[in-house]
Amino acid sequence: MAHYITGLDIGTTKIGAIVAEVDGEALTIVGVGTSPSDGLRRGVVVNLEKTIRSIQAAISEAERMAGVPINEVYAGIAGDHIRSINGRGVVAVAGENNEISAADIRRVIDAAKAVALPIDREILHILPQEFIVDDQNGIKDPTGMAGVRLEAEVHIVTGAITSAQNIYRSIGRAEMKVLDLVLEPLASSYAVLGEDEKELGVIVMDLGGGTTDIAMFYEGCIRHTAIVGLGGKNVTNDVALGLRTPVENAESIKVNHGCAVHRDGDREETIEVPGVGGRQSRRISKAYLVDIIQPRIEEILSLAYQEIKKSNYVHLMTAGVVLTGGGSMLQGTIDLAEEIFDMPVKLGVPNGFSGLTDLAQSPIHATGVGLVHYGLQHRFDRNELLGNDENGLFKWVMNTMRKWFTALNRPA
Ligand SMILES: Nc1ncnc2c1ncn2[C@@H]1O[C@H](COP(=O)(O)OP(=O)(O)OP(=O)(O)O)[C@@H](O)[C@H]1O
Ligand SMILES: [Mg+2]
Repeated sequence: MAHYITGLDIGTTKIGAIVAEVDGEALTIVGVGTSPSDGLRRGVVVNLEKTIRSIQAAISEAERMAGVPINEVYAGIAGDHIRSINGRGVVAVAGENNEISAADIRRVIDAAKAVALPIDREILHILPQEFIVDDQNGIKDPTGMAGVRLEAEVHIVTGAITSAQNIYRSIGRAEMKVLDLVLEPLASSYAVLGEDEKELGVIVMDLGGGTTDIAMFYEGCIRHTAIVGLGGKNVTNDVALGLRTPVENAESIKVNHGCAVHRDGDREETIEVPGVGGRQSRRISKAYLVDIIQPRIEEILSLAYQEIKKSNYVHLMTAGVVLTGGGSMLQGTIDLAEEIFDMPVKLGVPNGFSGLTDLAQSPIHATGVGLVHYGLQHRFDRNELLGNDENGLFKWVMNTMRKWFTALNRPA
């Protein structure tokens, strides 16, 4: 029987459902559903009923297209409640002859994740980065090595319990099960980044409607995550205020004519602004529109740059920035980003699948497609991983390490 994976991206401006048929490691996207979303503020569900209705609409569309029922999804989580910290655990090697055993690895991961967690937060991801045996660092799998002291470095992502609960609740009320809740920029990274880029050092930046999500990778592991509470919606609102036009008009003017930088001839080019309340429509120069848009994009990108600079890894981002999300589609955004970051910037288009490429290969679907990729690569149970089941955590660590190992031994 065919096996399917669904990614459900609960965004601030749209809810997107991506259904893929799985054949081994190959993904064929067979359903894409989108529905406008207005039950969220800056990535967080604030209106349950509206969110449930949009989820149902997006899922029904995807189900119709795919011709299969959707009962379970991988869902994204974002918002400015997300905090990520780097944890470090140290243990003395207990095995015979100082040989590092699986039990030592389990203990050191436990030690690293045993951070003081406020009662209103939950751990979303524990992402192992490296092990250190005595003074030797950069070890991906220390099993069987000899040592006295074993250290582990992990990246821990936490979120507000209530925000996670509202996502579970909305999806549950839409009669589906959540297989895993995935940090949105982490999900997007699965769709738009190559393994080689993650190895070299790269930043994925998802410029959405409500938030701009950032994740930094180096040597194949996530190193830093951050969020800026501004996105494309703020740009639209600026256009609405600046041109004194309703938000819907402002949105289409932005999408069709907007640009983040001045181009030759934009003083002469004019755009029609529809009149409201019986008023006549009027014409403005394209340059005037750029004057409204540019400062906001500049603000968003500058705040994002400040977040990037907080990481110790900023100088190691050789592959630059991959900009994705609907906001990245605004003309001129890539140019402005290169200027502000002083790094190479490219547009991140979801890849790694066949099927409905015309629909799914849009930066808007980076998170949804990424959730499907994530689902394919993490076919284990979240509860086993994060619950009290030590065996589960252990299985997960071994699983992750096995993957590293295969990657390391893969013939070039
Ligand atoms: N062609 C385009 N040109 C400019 N902007 C665009 C274009 N297409 C979409 N956008 C903008 O992208 C934003 C939506 O992006 P996206 O769908 O990635 O956000 P979201 O996932 O709903 O929100 P978030 O991730 O912040 O919760 C909107 O502000 C929209 O105006
Ligand atoms: Mg989004």
